Amino acid sequence: MTQSDRERLAVLIHEVRSPVAALRAIAETCQGNRLETRERRPLVDLAIAACLGIERLIGDVTVSSVRLESVDIGRLVEEAVGAAVLGGESVRAEVDEGLPPLRADPLRLRQALDNLVSNALRHAGSSTEVLIRARPAKAAVLLSVADQGPGIPPDEQEKIFEAGVRLDAARPGSGLGLAVVRAIAEAHGGTLAVESVPGEGTTFTIALPIS
Ligand SMILES: Nc1ncnc2c1ncn2[C@@H]1O[C@H](COP(=O)(O)OP(=O)(O)OP(=O)(O)O)[C@@H](O)[C@H]1O
Ligand SMILES: [Mg+2]
Repeated sequence: MTQSDRERLAVLIHEVRSPVAALRAIAETCQGNRLETRERRPLVDLAIAACLGIERLIGDVTVSSVRLESVDIGRLVEEAVGAAVLGGESVRAEVDEGLPPLRADPLRLRQALDNLVSNALRHAGSSTEVLIRARPAKAAVLLSVADQGPGIPPDEQEKIFEAGVRLDAARPGSGLGLAVVRAIAEAHGGTLAVESVPGEGTTFTIALPIS
């Protein structure tokens, strides 16, 4: 870690303390307290503001930590699959021939893929097979992660990208993974989108522009 990485990390830790402390205080106020609707309202507003603060931090830190180099996307996908398979997971890759090398940050892209794969394995049920695809599109490379899990209801599909949002409180997680993945896609000038049919599965796609 370089000196400037260390400084950035120190700032992040400092800045994230305040929204996290606010969320903790809100949770503790709610715990064991039967709040009236009118008492709940300001707490909900505070919680939303704290989550927005965390989202902004994730975005800022991601953008400032991106280091661009020439990246072989096919190799990146194979490495992500290799790591998952070593861990005993059912993950495979489909990489189109002739993808152009991209100006990208391989560590951040790998982090994004690993987040999506871990979501598929954790939220889509144990019987799912996960498919990572890399294919060309108009002026972009599409990196997608698909599962055959229960899917995500249409009215929840945009919400899941917000910091702290989890659809099933019984499963472990902090609800930050997709906010990080979206920030990584956007730091590359790209996008993160979801397509899902309840009962049939979910596909997350990162579109990375070919510069
Ligand atoms: N492949 C998927 N299938 C079904 N639901 C999903 C899938 N991926 C994400 N979700 C839903 O979206 C929510 C938010 O995902 P996100 O990655 O942001 O957080 P998390 O996985 O709960 O926690 P974290 O990633 O911070 O450990 C999940 O809690 C889950 O409800
Ligand atoms: Mg996650």
